[in-house]
Amino acid sequence: MRKIGVFTSGGDAPGMNAHVRAVIRTCLSIGVEPIGIMNGYEGMMYGDFVHLTAKDSANIISRGGTILKTARSKRFMTEEGRAQAAKNLKDAMIEGVIACGGDGTFHGAHYLYHEHHIPIVGTPGTIDNDLYGTDYTIGYDTAINTAAEAIDRIRDTAESHGRVFIIEVMGRHAGFIAMDVGVACGAKAIAVPETHTDLADLAGRIKEHSNRRTIIVVGEGDELGGAGDVSRMLKEGYDIDSHVTILGHIQRGGSPTVRDRVLATRLGSVAVNALLAGKTDVMVGESNHHVSYTPLNETWEKRKQLPPYLVELSTLLA
Ligand code: F6P
Repeated sequence: MRKIGVFTSGGDAPGMNAHVRAVIRTCLSIGVEPIGIMNGYEGMMYGDFVHLTAKDSANIISRGGTILKTARSKRFMTEEGRAQAAKNLKDAMIEGVIACGGDGTFHGAHYLYHEHHIPIVGTPGTIDNDLYGTDYTIGYDTAINTAAEAIDRIRDTAESHGRVFIIEVMGRHAGFIAMDVGVACGAKAIAVPETHTDLADLAGRIKEHSNRRTIIVVGEGDELGGAGDVSRMLKEGYDIDSHVTILGHIQRGGSPTVRDRVLATRLGSVAVNALLAGKTDVMVGESNHHVSYTPLNETWEKRKQLPPYLVELSTLLA
């Protein structure tokens, strides 16, 4: 029986389990044996492979995290680590793999294919939504809804006490989460790495309010730093007191939204067929509701832009 591997890698993202479920069920429906590679590239290098059955895919569609576990592997960045991983895959007669993760995962996948000719198809699994070649990544919709819900709660206190809250959201080097969530929660200002953050303007916006009740959303990769840095600069430069909330990993957990489940399911199923049809070194994504294939290196080399309408709205309606 033909065998294909599936693994999740990098930061976990809600919807990864729905994705694994789709891979398992698609494989089984066409007589292919799905093999789970545990702990991302770490498990690939240690030969930690498990035979996946229909039972493994039961009751996981609504679960956050990933049943295959995940890791960020330093050893896989070495040629020796990748050679070991390729040998293990070949020994186990796994003829191709599906890699669900972000740009770090795709870098590894790209090298694995080019150095060892292991057919590999990537699927976008990251809450950051920062991969070129897909409108949305698996986990993003859940993360923004989780963050928005948390900020709505904080707003109750901001309003009741007349306080300034500087709220930091995730996104590493990308401001997608900050922008969407900031607009959705009516933030007074949104600081993201893609645009220049003007501290004086930010201070001015806060002072517009007589009782200063304000929500400011800061993407963790902003050039001014995190929420703590912005808060300190506002105090030192403009004598503005503020409270800092870092939403952190709360954004990565929880049951995936319907959108994430459907995206994860669609891409999981398409990825199996793409791999078996001979596609390799590409990411399967969804653009304008259609399935798209993007060379893995383009997913990080071509920078995905923040939608201009969001950037406009963020200043217009603040
Ligand atoms: O890439 C997803 C992400 O959650 C980023 O938003 C964040 O910068 C990073 O992972 C945190 O990674 P870790 O959980 O390994 O600290």
